[in-house]
Amino acid sequence: MTTLKRITAATLTRAKQAEEKMVWLTAYDAASAQIAEAAGAEVLLVGDSLGMVSLGFDSTLPVTLDHMIHHTAAVVRGRSKAWVVCDLPFGSYQQNPEQAFLSSVRVLQESACDAVKIEGGEHMANTISFLSERGIAVVAHIGLTPQSVKKFGSYGKRAKDDAGRAQLIQDAKAVAAAGAVCIVLENIPADLGTEITNMLDTPTVGIGAGNHCDAQVLVWNDLLGISASNPPFAPAYANVRAVMSDAISRWAADVKAGQFPKA
Ligand code: KIV
Repeated sequence: MTTLKRITAATLTRAKQAEEKMVWLTAYDAASAQIAEAAGAEVLLVGDSLGMVSLGFDSTLPVTLDHMIHHTAAVVRGRSKAWVVCDLPFGSYQQNPEQAFLSSVRVLQESACDAVKIEGGEHMANTISFLSERGIAVVAHIGLTPQSVKKFGSYGKRAKDDAGRAQLIQDAKAVAAAGAVCIVLENIPADLGTEITNMLDTPTVGIGAGNHCDAQVLVWNDLLGISASNPPFAPAYANVRAVMSDAISRWAADVKAGQFPKA
């Protein structure tokens, strides 16, 4: 029997120490998990971006714990050795550490994933240590936190002025000290991404945070060019939307013309 060496939280720390970049990608179902992993993704993030890219919502706020568990379980079924992280959705963890614990237990038990991700810095540190002390691997997410879009009014760059930078550094230190196994840095100045990455032993995962982060993550639909439009920091490496559209329209034309199936 061959033993599969799974990626774990310890792999991320070792990679940082060895200065090896890690590849994260979002995935929302078993097929995308298999394709992503076979092509080199080491961590599969079931982001609550699910709500916007797959479920047709106009923000991540309507995403529920049931949605996340349903899709994360599919990703887990599709993965072979990748580390699978599930976003705790809006409203499932902010109330208090106990609520976050119960939501994490549901996610871990019902999807069999490896870690949960929560948005927020210093103010979520208590919750992160509560979960971490109880054996849960927590990924923190700071900078642009899409679940707070109603408060900030946009998905624009964060920590642009001195006060914002100082707060983000404090956020990063607080979540690291609380036991976060790694920290997603979203849409912040590149030099701040570098500063935080150099300052901490905890690995950082950048998305619009410059190329010095320990890992990089992109949203599946953005990377592949399926999204109707991409954020400026997420270049498409293909135009899969056009490929899909072309295949469907050629097939539809054949059906209309009575040429499918051929006989
Ligand atoms: O929901 C998501 O896909 C995310 C990534 C953008 C980091 O949180």
